[in-house]
Amino acid sequence: FYPKATGGGAGAIQALDALGGPVTTESWFKNHRAKSRDLVQGIKGDPTYLIVNEENTLNSYGLNAVCTHLGCVVPWDGQDNKFKCPCHGSQYAADGHVVRGPAPRPLALAHVADAEGKIQLSPWTETDFRTGEKPWWA
Ligand code: FES
Repeated sequence: FYPKATGGGAGAIQALDALGGPVTTESWFKNHRAKSRDLVQGIKGDPTYLIVNEENTLNSYGLNAVCTHLGCVVPWDGQDNKFKCPCHGSQYAADGHVVRGPAPRPLALAHVADAEGKIQLSPWTETDFRTGEKPWWA
């Protein structure tokens, strides 16, 4: 099961790989296992994590990898199940909420869906389910 795109809402874009080609769902699942978090080029060119769930499904949200402190790209540490910023030590949980500062805000969310076999990202404008607040990035 992959979340299906519902007609490519406003601002929907194709996730791109390191060479600028579209990322297909089939190729992603060939190379990425359950619980992985790996980067594609996302909205506005921002590095964005696609998440494969424990059940080997594509998570319906992705996480913008740009640290909300001063903008370093935050690597995923699968051993520790956290994103850890190498610049000033901020840490984020697997869903992108802050577990250690100085980062002031959670990693930005984007919708992820399969659009005819290609992975599509679209802006997240709804409430941030991690904070219960309006998205700070929208
Ligand atoms: Fe990530 Fe400062 S840029 S902690």
